Amino acid sequence: MDVEGVERQAAAAVASARSTEELAEVETAVLGKRGPLALAHRELGALDPDQRRAAGKVLHDAKVRLEALVAERHRELALIERTERLAADRLDLTEVLARSAPVTRGHLHLVSQTQMALEDTFVGMGFSVAEGPEAETDWYNFEALNIPPAHPARSMWDTLYLDLGEPETVVLRTHTSPVQIHLMEEHQLPIHAVIPGRCFRRETPDARHLAVFHQVEGLVVDRGITFGDLAGTIETFTGAYFGPEIHSRLRPAYFPFTEPSAEFEITCTICRGEGCRTCSGTGWIELGGCGMVDPAVFDAVGIDRTEWSGFAFGFGIDRCAQMRHGISDMRLLIENDIRFLRQF
Ligand code: FA5
Repeated sequence: MDVEGVERQAAAAVASARSTEELAEVETAVLGKRGPLALAHRELGALDPDQRRAAGKVLHDAKVRLEALVAERHRELALIERTERLAADRLDLTEVLARSAPVTRGHLHLVSQTQMALEDTFVGMGFSVAEGPEAETDWYNFEALNIPPAHPARSMWDTLYLDLGEPETVVLRTHTSPVQIHLMEEHQLPIHAVIPGRCFRRETPDARHLAVFHQVEGLVVDRGITFGDLAGTIETFTGAYFGPEIHSRLRPAYFPFTEPSAEFEITCTICRGEGCRTCSGTGWIELGGCGMVDPAVFDAVGIDRTEWSGFAFGFGIDRCAQMRHGISDMRLLIENDIRFLRQF
C-alpha cells in the first residue's frame, strides 16, 4: 500500500474540512476501523517478521501524524465555531435603543393623573386628603352606613367577600363611603376631607363600569352645614375641574347613609349639553351620589346630631377621566394598550 499517498490525501481532507462535524467524518473515513490504515494494518500478518516490523512502524508513524493533524484542525474549527456562535447570540441593547429612539420614559396612568388633579382641585377648595383601607368589615362597609344585614339597599352594592374571620364579615370595599366612618371615629370635628381610593364590585365590565374602579369621597362635618353648602361645593368643583361651561345639577335619589340624598350630574362633556348617544340624549351625565349625612350615621359613631351636621359625596374617578377626555369605553383604561395610554 502507498502509505505516503494515503497520508497525503488524508492530510488534504483534514485541512479542507469546514466544520468540526465534517472533520469527524474525515477522521472516521481515514483513521476509523474501516479506513485504509486499519486495512493495511490487517494485512501486516501476511508479511515476514522483519518486513512486518518495518511496515508496522511506517503505518504507526503515519497514524500518529494524522491524529495530530486532526487534533490541530479540530482546535481551529472549534474556535471558529465558538466565535461565530457568540456573535450570533450577542444581544446588542444599543441596537434596540437606537431603533426605538427617541428614548421615552413612561408616565402615570390616566386614572392616577386624574386622581392627583382631583386632589389638587379639592385642596384648592380647602379640603384635606385622607385615605382608608381597601378591605373592610361588614360594619364599616354597610352597617355603620345605615345598611343593616338583609337591608334591600345591599343589593345596590353586590360585593366580593374575603375568606377572613367569620364567613361574609370582611369585604373588598364597594365604595369609599366606609372611610367616612373611620374619619368620624378617629378625627376631631370639624372634618373637611376628600378620600380617593380603589373600590371593588361584583360587576360585569361595560362601557361605563369596571369591577375594580376608583372613587373619591367627600365628607364635611361642621356646625350649621346645609344642603346649599353641598350644592355650592359640587358646582364649584365642577367648574374648577371641568371648566366654566360645564355645570352640575342634583336629582333626588336614595342612599341609606344620606338624607336627603341626590345624584349629581354634570353637563355632558361629549355634546356640551346638546344631547348625544353617551348621555342618552339628556345632555347630562351622572358622576356620583351625595346628600346630607343621615343622623343615624352620626348615632353609629357617637356624634351629637343636634350639634353637628354635614354632607358627603362620592363619585367615580375613572368616570371623571372618561368624561374629561371623551373616552367612549371605560374598559380602554384597563386594557394596557400603549397606543391608547400614550395619548394622556
Ligand atoms: C356610591 O358608591 C355611594 N357611596 C356614593 C355616595 C357617597 C352617596 C356619599 C352619598 C354620599 P354609587 O354606587 O352610585 O354610589 O357610585 C357612585 C359613582 O361611582 C357612580 O356614579 C360612578 O361614577 C362610580 N361607579 C360606581 N360603580 C362603578 C363601576 N362599577 N365602575 C366605574 N365607576 C363606578
